[in-house]
Amino acid sequence: MIEVQDLHRHFGGFRAVDGASLRIEPGSITGLIGPNGAGKTTLFNVIAGVLKPTSGRVTMAGEDITGLSPHVLFHKGLLRTFQIAHEFSSMTCRENLMMVPGGQSGETLWNTWFGRKRIANEERALRAKADEVLEFLTVSHLAEQRAGQISGGQKKLLELGRTMMVDAKIVFLDEVGAGVNRTLLNTIGDAIIRLNQERNYTFVVIEHDMDFIGKISDHVICMAEGKVLAEGSLAEIKANEQVIEAYLGTGLKNKDQLEGAPT
Ligand SMILES: Nc1ncnc2c1ncn2[C@@H]1O[C@H](COP(=O)(O)OP(=O)(O)OP(=O)(O)O)[C@@H](O)[C@H]1O
Ligand SMILES: [Mg+2]
Repeated sequence: MIEVQDLHRHFGGFRAVDGASLRIEPGSITGLIGPNGAGKTTLFNVIAGVLKPTSGRVTMAGEDITGLSPHVLFHKGLLRTFQIAHEFSSMTCRENLMMVPGGQSGETLWNTWFGRKRIANEERALRAKADEVLEFLTVSHLAEQRAGQISGGQKKLLELGRTMMVDAKIVFLDEVGAGVNRTLLNTIGDAIIRLNQERNYTFVVIEHDMDFIGKISDHVICMAEGKVLAEGSLAEIKANEQVIEAYLGTGLKNKDQLEGAPT
């Protein structure tokens, strides 16, 4: 689905991504791990068009998508979740979902004069879809709540929900589990697995919580110092000498993360 070839992203003389190459298979849930500063988020940002690469190539289903803007990639079904913007915090959760761009007629003059009925129909359909998404995520009770007032974990669910308002093909999630309680983390994990199985979403998930990675992913890629260090099952990765060294080299906290100990 996605192929990354010898990707670089440098900041001045610093090589945050330093020749990373990897493949994401269609229909997979790939866990992307690695010690702090490994270049995971930078890699995501380059793939998703938020940052331009210094060099290298990214293809999606064979098509060169290197350096395309997030907006263009969004319409191709490549999505990276973002925190709910501050401006949207006074809107309800349902309204936040309804705001996701994707095929609404919009407010051109033509529509204003001639398309009122169509817009009303679309709005009804959008609303129904938003409610369906909330139900899928088991948070229907949040429909009327303001986004600024829900918990951190519920916000993560809402961010995931935004990807369901369009026909996403591949979704990149950066630390969905950070600061989220166990119960909600399980809900997020279940939603990811169901979206994968029932709607054929491909996922790439950055996460430091190894239990979570173990539960949801069928393939794990470990990055260190801007490169892909190892790939395989989580058990293989955890037993890999180079991986252990990379985590150890960046301090005890990172080693604990690899072992899944509470940090
Ligand atoms: N805009 C930037 N300017 C300069 N350096 C940057 C920039 N963005 C990231 N870096 C550096 O690039 C390196 C990789 O950062 P990145 O955020 O990609 O790591 P990460 O693997 O996501 O780490 P973490 O697990 O802590 O989130 C870090 O040393 C970081 O300081
Ligand atoms: Mg990061």
